[in-house]
Amino acid sequence: MKPKVFVTRKLPEAIIQKLETSCQVKMWEEENLPIPYEVLEKEILEVDGLFCLLTENIDRALLEKAKRLKVISNMAVGYNNIDIDAAKDLGITVTNTPGVLTETTADLTFALLMATARRLIEASDYLKNGAWQTWSPMQLTGQDVFGATIGIIGMGRIGASLAKRARGFDMNILYYNRSRKLELEKELDIKYVEMDYLLKESDFVCIMTPYTKETKNLIAAKELRMMKETAILINTARGGIVNEADLYLALLEKQIWAAGLDVFGEEPIAKSHPLLSLNNVVALPHIGSASIQTRLKMANLAAENLLAALNNQMPKHVVV
Ligand code: DGY
Repeated sequence: MKPKVFVTRKLPEAIIQKLETSCQVKMWEEENLPIPYEVLEKEILEVDGLFCLLTENIDRALLEKAKRLKVISNMAVGYNNIDIDAAKDLGITVTNTPGVLTETTADLTFALLMATARRLIEASDYLKNGAWQTWSPMQLTGQDVFGATIGIIGMGRIGASLAKRARGFDMNILYYNRSRKLELEKELDIKYVEMDYLLKESDFVCIMTPYTKETKNLIAAKELRMMKETAILINTARGGIVNEADLYLALLEKQIWAAGLDVFGEEPIAKSHPLLSLNNVVALPHIGSASIQTRLKMANLAAENLLAALNNQMPKHVVV
């Protein structure tokens, strides 16, 4: 009997076919709506493998019900949506998809940095809304990117790729990480500094660190107060790393100049959320890895991880 797999979102046909070569596959058929927890709770009872997205909350209660479950394959590099300790306790393998999305996410991070610094969204809206009457000296002026100081919090794969882009703009690159990256310091001409120094000196503070108990609310009122009045905060990692209420106040009171956000504490963020009322916020719907090529690579890798675990082989990327 082929092992049973449940897929929590509609996937391209080629990925389903790949899974069907050795599994019985059932899928939540919606493309743009997440599976309700109560539905997943029922589906998970019978399956050997789960292919899921970062939108699914895979908590201990759910995992304790999943008596047959051997593997959870998350189609994301981040896995804060899964209770990893519970999976470990219950002997369930968890896999993720690092590597394939690195460059695409670094591209989006730099694009968001540029868009925020040069007010691209605001400027486009200004023109489209018919407000443009003439060229004038200080109209829609932003902050320079070329030659500025960038502070990267988290020097993993994506942080390093962001540093490469910053190098092309002749930026002074500071970083903070749990451990120093001596090889990268030489290769990319980046400088390790303490967090406080990074916050005080950077024109752009970019969050590139995973979301864990330690990084929850890493950037809150105290940290925002250390930043320059002209500084820009960029977050393409996870929303919970920044205290959004504190960020809102810092932006409103012009303690910092602007923020570019691709991720939020609650996703989707409510349309009425105060952050979305600010002109100095550029907000995106979690599209860091959203290129056609990369999303297909992520889906493929997640399928390969799942199949390997179900065939008692070592998946390429095991979290636990
Ligand atoms: C991830 O993979 O963790 C991103 O947030 C989505 O690509």
